[in-house]
Amino acid sequence: MANQYDVAVIGAGAAGMMCAATAGKRGKRVVLLDHAAKLAEKIRISGGGRCNFTNINAGPANFLSENPHFAKSALSRFTPQDFLAMVKKHRIGFHEKHKGQLFCDDSAEQIIDMLRDECADGGVHWRMPSKVQAVAQNGAGFVLQTDDGEIHAGAVVVATGGLSIPKIGATDFGYRVAKHFGLKLVEPRPALVPLTFDAQEWAPFVPLAGVSLEVDVETGSLKGRNPTGARFREDLLFTHRGLSGPAILQISSFWLPGTSITINLLPEMDLAQTLIEGKGTLKKQLGNLLSQWMPTRLAEGLLQMQGLDPEARIADMKDDTLRKLGRAVNQWTITPNGSEGYRKAEVTRGGVDTHELSQQSMECKNVPGLYFIGETVDVTGWLGGYNFQWAWASGVAAGLAI
Ligand code: FDA
Repeated sequence: MANQYDVAVIGAGAAGMMCAATAGKRGKRVVLLDHAAKLAEKIRISGGGRCNFTNINAGPANFLSENPHFAKSALSRFTPQDFLAMVKKHRIGFHEKHKGQLFCDDSAEQIIDMLRDECADGGVHWRMPSKVQAVAQNGAGFVLQTDDGEIHAGAVVVATGGLSIPKIGATDFGYRVAKHFGLKLVEPRPALVPLTFDAQEWAPFVPLAGVSLEVDVETGSLKGRNPTGARFREDLLFTHRGLSGPAILQISSFWLPGTSITINLLPEMDLAQTLIEGKGTLKKQLGNLLSQWMPTRLAEGLLQMQGLDPEARIADMKDDTLRKLGRAVNQWTITPNGSEGYRKAEVTRGGVDTHELSQQSMECKNVPGLYFIGETVDVTGWLGGYNFQWAWASGVAAGLAI
């Protein structure tokens, strides 16, 4: 039957293409469906157009999940080196940028072409654009209702991603299918996302928009609410509405509404101690001194907010005043009022509860033949190529098991 397949993979993103190619190369008759007009937009825009396709150091510790052990099996069976071997086979130039992050030398399009070629090798059938409206069990298999008719398949893989960036095709389809089959969800929320602040509280920082510097950031004021506290050293960027940059994106995945974050704006230095001990030797004015160690605009802004004269000589200043300034710089504690949401979030935290799935195959324990992979699952990587590594690894795990 033309519409009868061994496997229907819904969502031709990173995880879906990898899974379809893997199953197809094992001789399965596979159909890959996506409602988007353009293939794999998220890969195309990733890594600033160069796709940070993996991280050579990726391991289970780089992922968030209600069940931190779940990702271990898939990640250990398809490693960054395995993906790299595929990249090399397709002669795609790449380079390491920062902390193990691997990017294409030229363009993310090369990763899309590579996955399309791998699907061709597996004889994968395409239905695109084709929106899947519903999935239901049908005897020993499944029936998919799509824009252009029914599809019958022995197994269904849901690879429709999370909610991030709805304007390029993100939907809640995966969660709806999960609910339809009675699976539990871990509440989805935006992650790897800029954080925002109350407009009045943020007003003094608005003139700092565009300032960037390396900081330490950690989740603070946990009050027992955030057992998965975290700390990162990365660049921070001031924006008109709040804070962004890799440091904030990283911490946003761990941040819980109502809690604060603590930022060390001078992680290499105890400012109060340096100033107090340097009273005899550091002759410069306070403003000039601070500007040696951080962007001038930030130094000026901080002194203004502290009500301190940038021309004051530190030798004339009270130790208590310098300690207060030190705390403002080394332990800046601030409570976001929210985030920029799915419009700007790189990923969605939460999703299909991993307790519902086999960690070897991604198959639902209670619905044989139904699989969830990639971002729909409650496994969320740090910033830096980890999310694609999860998409590849979970896609291969399902593709080998079906
Ligand atoms: P993905 O979202 O890729 O694919 C889901 C597919 O399902 C889409 O093609 C969608 O059209 C389709 N779909 C949805 N509903 C459907 C329906 N009802 N019927 C049919 N099709 C449907 N990660 C990383 O590791 N390195 C990086 O450099 C970046 N950079 C980056 C930049 C930006 C701006 C964003 C938004 C995200 C990143 N990421 C990233 C994250 C990464 O893109 C993401 O984790 C993976 O694309 C997830 O892969 P999936 O295949 O699970 O979903």
